[in-house]
Amino acid sequence: MCRRMFLRPLLLCLYALLLDRFTHLCPPPCQCFDGTKVFCSGGEIREIPEGLPGNATQIFFVETSLATIRNGTFNNSSLTTLVFLNNPKQSLEAGVFGERSNLTELEVSGTPLSALSSEAFSSLPELRKLLFSFNGLRALEPGLFNHMPLLEALHLQGNKIKALPPRIFYPLRELKTLDLSHNPITEVPERLFHPLALLQVLRLSNISLTRLSHGTFCNLPSLRELSLDRNALVDLPPGAFCKLTHLRRLHLQHNALKSLPRSIFSHLLNLDTLNLEGNRLSALPSDLFQGTPKLSQLFVASNLLETLPEGIFSNLAQVCTIVLSQNQLTHLPAGTFQGLSRLSTLRLDHNNLSALAGDAVYNLSSLRVLDLAGNRLQALPEGIFDSTEYWLTVTLTDNPWACDCRLAYLAGWVQTWAMSMNSQAVCASPDHLKGWALPALPLEQLVCLGKEGTALAPCTYSNAEGTVQLACDPAACHQLTVRLPPQGDSSSQGLAHDSNWVLTSSCGTVRVRVAIRAEQGGALREEVALSHKIQSVP
Ligand SMILES: *[C@@H]1O[C@H](CO)[C@@H](O)[C@H](O)[C@H]1NC(C)=O
Ligand SMILES: *[C@@H]1O[C@H](CO)[C@@H](O)[C@H](O)[C@H]1NC(C)=O
Ligand SMILES: *[C@@H]1O[C@H](CO)[C@@H](O)[C@H](O)[C@H]1NC(C)=O
Ligand SMILES: *[C@@H]1O[C@H](CO)[C@@H](O)[C@H](O)[C@H]1NC(C)=O
Ligand SMILES: *[C@@H]1O[C@H](CO)[C@@H](O)[C@H](O)[C@H]1NC(C)=O
Ligand SMILES: *[C@@H]1O[C@H](CO)[C@@H](O)[C@H](O)[C@H]1NC(C)=O
Ligand SMILES: *[C@@H]1O[C@H](CO)[C@@H](O)[C@H](O)[C@H]1NC(C)=O
Ligand SMILES: *[C@@H]1O[C@H](CO)[C@@H](O)[C@H](O)[C@H]1NC(C)=O
Repeated sequence: MCRRMFLRPLLLCLYALLLDRFTHLCPPPCQCFDGTKVFCSGGEIREIPEGLPGNATQIFFVETSLATIRNGTFNNSSLTTLVFLNNPKQSLEAGVFGERSNLTELEVSGTPLSALSSEAFSSLPELRKLLFSFNGLRALEPGLFNHMPLLEALHLQGNKIKALPPRIFYPLRELKTLDLSHNPITEVPERLFHPLALLQVLRLSNISLTRLSHGTFCNLPSLRELSLDRNALVDLPPGAFCKLTHLRRLHLQHNALKSLPRSIFSHLLNLDTLNLEGNRLSALPSDLFQGTPKLSQLFVASNLLETLPEGIFSNLAQVCTIVLSQNQLTHLPAGTFQGLSRLSTLRLDHNNLSALAGDAVYNLSSLRVLDLAGNRLQALPEGIFDSTEYWLTVTLTDNPWACDCRLAYLAGWVQTWAMSMNSQAVCASPDHLKGWALPALPLEQLVCLGKEGTALAPCTYSNAEGTVQLACDPAACHQLTVRLPPQGDSSSQGLAHDSNWVLTSSCGTVRVRVAIRAEQGGALREEVALSHKIQSVP
């Protein structure tokens, strides 16, 4: 379920090892440390043990069989921290903390608790942290938080809360963190968060939200992190993020967003991370990032983008990571990544790209990771990586590489710099190189035969024994001229000739077998067998 629920006991165990123990004052099976910290765990614990140290300030009950905690149990106690974690039978009576308590941190998580009365927390004026996650809470009673004016963190994630009383958070003027994620809330009243002027972190992930009203986040001048991921938002109102000038992280991934209003992010001057992954965006407005000069991490994977507007990233001087994986990009406008001198990770994998411009990554001196896997690339322009640094790793797998002369630069580059991650990048054509991995390609076989429709220059193959000239087009070789090496005295009886050659040239490799025999009557009969390994070029 949630990671921290397991983390806590682990930390406590470490604690147990590190601190001197004062177990003699402790009721078994609890353990006491430092005279002030008590840790009780075990299925045999059914009620709060008698004889806990009177001056304990922190008590933890973890994975016990505690049932109802009665009215007055912690009356007049000196506790500052009380934690109930994963006690599957636990419930709380109203008045547990008596008249007044000095608790600053209270956690009740992983219980089946389904309701809390508004008096439950009426005597916790010192409380700073209230963690009430992964219980069965169905509603929040109006007034529930009226008596904890100093509260800074409120975690209610993973309950079954459906509706929120519109003024429920009004008393929490000191609140810095509010987590309502993983509840079936569906709708957020427009003014719900208005008085939370100090709020820094607001998590509304997975709350079945289908729409946002215009002013929901407008009175949150301190907000640094806003999570709206895993909802069902189809669009956003134009002013949704108002002037959240301190916002650093905005999570909108895994919604159903089809488009974004033009200036939706225009006042997010300190935005560092923006996640739009897993939506249905088919286009982005060209000035989307004009007001986000500090953006460093941008995630737009798993959308429906077919291209990008020209200059869309031109204002992102700080950007380090751009992830555009799993879209339908067929081409990128010229200069899309130009000038992004901090860009270190660029993922374009699993798109529909059939070409990259020669200057696509020109001068990206910080680039370390370029993922081009799963596109329709047949070749990359010569020199494309000449201005990048040696630490660049490029992933090329799952593309239909055409292994001819146009691939010579890339294959050479791969063999020098990026062997290991491309052992699965293979030639799709020509036939005789199909399936060869780029790192293993014999570079001398990467040859072209000329372009379709242009006159074909004959290829000359020679070795010490002779010369063969071929004129070929992509389909076949039409002409063959064989100039035989001198055969000594041709007038003698030994005219018969039989030889086998494997000849290479800039065009490819050819195997030639020539057999000539003198026949009766002085006529010559020639047999020429030719198998050529010259790939065709479309
Ligand atoms: C807590 O009380 C016990 C006696 O009940 C005493 O021995 C111990 O020193 C006290 N610890 C602190 C930190 O006051
Ligand atoms: C809590 O203690 C006060 C005295 O300190 C007492 O008057 C009150 O009845 C107690 N409440 C409970 C619920 O035990
Ligand atoms: C409440 O606790 C304080 C100190 O912890 C103690 O002095 C006082 O007697 C207690 N009051 C009652 C009614 O138990
Ligand atoms: C709560 O704290 C105040 C001030 O620190 C102290 O006077 C009071 O005794 C504490 N109450 C309890 C029940 O420990
Ligand atoms: C808790 O018990 C006290 C008496 O011990 C009583 O006065 C008080 O009303 C009870 N509180 C609740 C919320 O039931
Ligand atoms: C979303 O929240 C529901 C409870 O409302 C929970 O069951 C589900 O696992 C959550 N989904 C994710 C992806 O966290
Ligand atoms: C990829 O592009 C080709 C044309 O270049 C198009 O026919 C095809 O439908 C595209 N595929 C996807 C998944 O968009
Ligand atoms: C390449 O980058 C350097 C520093 O990042 C910059 O000074 C230079 O002008 C750039 N060159 C071009 C042609 O963009």
